[in-house]
Amino acid sequence: MTSSARYSAVAIALHWAIALGIIGMIALGWNMEGNESLYQLHKSIGITILILTIARIIWRVMNPPPPLPEEMKPLEKTASHLVHWAFYGLMLAMPLTGWLLVSTSYDFDIPTVLYGLVSWPDIPGVGFLANETGHAIVEFVHSKLAWVAIALLVLHVAGAVKHEFSAEEGVLKRMLPGLFGKTTRPSPPPHGFLVAFGAAIAVFALIAFVPKFFSGGSGTANETPLSSESGASNWTVDHGQSGIYFSGTHDGNEYEGEFGDWSADIQFDPDNLEDASAVVTVRTASANASKKLYTDSLRSAEWFNVSDFATATATLSNFEKTGDDAYEADLTLAIKESSVTVPFTFELDIDGDEARMKGEATVQRTPLNLGQQSDPTADWVGEDVLIDVEVLASRKS
Ligand code: HEM
Ligand code: HEM
Repeated sequence: MTSSARYSAVAIALHWAIALGIIGMIALGWNMEGNESLYQLHKSIGITILILTIARIIWRVMNPPPPLPEEMKPLEKTASHLVHWAFYGLMLAMPLTGWLLVSTSYDFDIPTVLYGLVSWPDIPGVGFLANETGHAIVEFVHSKLAWVAIALLVLHVAGAVKHEFSAEEGVLKRMLPGLFGKTTRPSPPPHGFLVAFGAAIAVFALIAFVPKFFSGGSGTANETPLSSESGASNWTVDHGQSGIYFSGTHDGNEYEGEFGDWSADIQFDPDNLEDASAVVTVRTASANASKKLYTDSLRSAEWFNVSDFATATATLSNFEKTGDDAYEADLTLAIKESSVTVPFTFELDIDGDEARMKGEATVQRTPLNLGQQSDPTADWVGEDVLIDVEVLASRKS
């Protein structure tokens, strides 16, 4: 009986991280239906497994594993190698088919935000699969690969256990952390840590961050802010002290957000309400919600569709005084190709040349054609959206 050299600590760490990841992911995949947070977790861990697999493959090329014990029969060695290669294929195929699955959604498009922090793009150029048949094939492959993984796992564990306790001692110990696996034969010094993990991180960064530079203006950072009010306006808005906010519910929890870029043309004189009007233009891509997933969702085609409809407008008309400092007006919201008119109530305090306004309105998202593919019956995202507006403005001289 001989004891053979162990895998390097990095190979062992990657083996167990990925093994536990895959086993956990199969369990998660089978139990996540109807829970959007679990879907996001599944996608996040899956992409992590893909990145770790890249590091693992490079590490393996740079640090060949210790040879199998000499006592093992050639056929068993071949079987062991075949299972290992099949596993490497699977470690790539499972996350890649998952990623392809979310990239070929044809009915609705829920973005992928890794761990709630990093927007992960869809695979480009796979539009030809984004239809009922293409998507169903990818889904079939992704789900059946789980059974391939289970079959391989059974063979793999059986082989490892058999060769741990039979004539060739210590195959399992080769892959156990040092605490468990004692060996007499030293492993060659490992190298290539920076190359393996540097390349994996570079792949991640290339996919996650480079598309943003080519996104063609759907962001806000590199865009000129919407121009301020026109000459006809008799008030100048102080944007630092003003805001347009929105809130509602998602999956029983409250969400909230704010539009970062908007301009307002206000003509208002409390003594001449007949001629009063306000037109607010909002850059749709400047909507920022409390969670990155919501922000990314809002930009997508079924919500604000920011690439085709860069702005939305809100027009106030038919002003009426309803109390001391209280007013009501008709708010007409025009988003994409839909518009609705709802009441907007506000309080206004004019002190010399400075005016403070606080108002609100509630709109329904169905008539505005928002989120009608993924959630037309408002099972997840509440039908009502509350809009809060706070404005500090100064009278133009
Ligand atoms: C090692 C990685 C992965 C494993 C082991 C895995 C495993 C699974 C399993 C077992 C299911 C359930 C299939 C069924 O219902 O029969 C599933 C579903 C799913 N996976 Fe993965 N997955 C992995 C990576 C990914 C990745 C990276 C993504 C996306 C970025 C993804 C997206 C999905 C989606 C969207 C579903 C739901 C399919 C549906 O219900 O229509 N998966 N996955
Ligand atoms: C889905 C889960 C798993 C995957 C994807 C997986 C994958 C792999 C791969 C690809 C190798 C070959 C490493 C190389 O030489 O490059 C390997 C080796 C090994 N794995 Fe796993 N493994 C999994 C689970 C397990 C489990 C649960 C055990 C526990 C019995 C185990 C024990 C071993 C041992 C002992 C080796 C070394 C075998 C040898 O030296 O020939 N693995 N595994």
